Amino acid sequence: MSRPPIIARTLPALRRALDGFHAKSGAIALVPTMGALHDGHVALVRLAKRRAARVAVSIFVNPSQFAPTEDFGSYPRTWKADVARLAAEGVDLIWNPDVKTMYPAGFATRILTEGPATAGLEDRFRPHFFAGVATVVGKLFMQCRPDIALFGEKDFQQLRVVAQMARDLDLGVRVIGAPTVRERDGLAMSSRNVYLSPEQRRVAPVLYRTMKATAQRLRGGDDLDAAMAGGAELITAAGFALDYFEARHAQTLAPVQSIKDGPIRLLVAAMLGSTRLIDNVAV
Ligand code: PAF
Repeated sequence: MSRPPIIARTLPALRRALDGFHAKSGAIALVPTMGALHDGHVALVRLAKRRAARVAVSIFVNPSQFAPTEDFGSYPRTWKADVARLAAEGVDLIWNPDVKTMYPAGFATRILTEGPATAGLEDRFRPHFFAGVATVVGKLFMQCRPDIALFGEKDFQQLRVVAQMARDLDLGVRVIGAPTVRERDGLAMSSRNVYLSPEQRRVAPVLYRTMKATAQRLRGGDDLDAAMAGGAELITAAGFALDYFEARHAQTLAPVQSIKDGPIRLLVAAMLGSTRLIDNVAV
């Protein structure tokens, strides 16, 4: 049996725990989360355990990445279950600061993101989002000083933004992306899936099915515009309000004209009722 994780809620407690880790040899991994943990997070923890001697998981619902109209207040918070899951996975440290610790009175600094953060995907619909993510992840990296940090590919643009930020600011962290974990019917795991009604939950896998079918059409040589338009029609016909369904270069997120401009990633974001789902697949 491994020891239960250290739970740090203040910066001095975090530093004490990390000093203990740094005193011994071996890499430290960080898995940043907002809690409400699911199998996708557990997969990140397991990958972290294979790559590092010590694994820290942060749980912080970051207000600065939510617009006032979004779900900060109702975002699922499942602290007890999260701690039990992380203990069962043998996590060494849980970093669980409160809002005042992360953003004390007078806090006045933000990380301004460009490049992949202005690709015209999530940023077009959530203009506040990447400055909030980059600022909090930058703080988490500086607080926890990990050697590696793991993020799910489900938030594909976020993964690119965080990797770019860590490189640009010489934070000394290697950002590693891990494949999306899916339900049996293909729906990408997300803490927000709990918002779906049973009927919406039945419809939700259409997103993944359509992306997979579109990727297959493109690999088979179909015209890109025609394949994307066909996919968009299927998604809309299933009852989604589409924010975007786009083919982009998988590294730069720049628009592409044809599959030859690859590697290509298809990215989608759509509302199902009041729940916003995002997903992506490689072509
Ligand atoms: O993907 C998430 O859960 C969040 O955006 C992150 C990276 C933990 C930053 O708050």
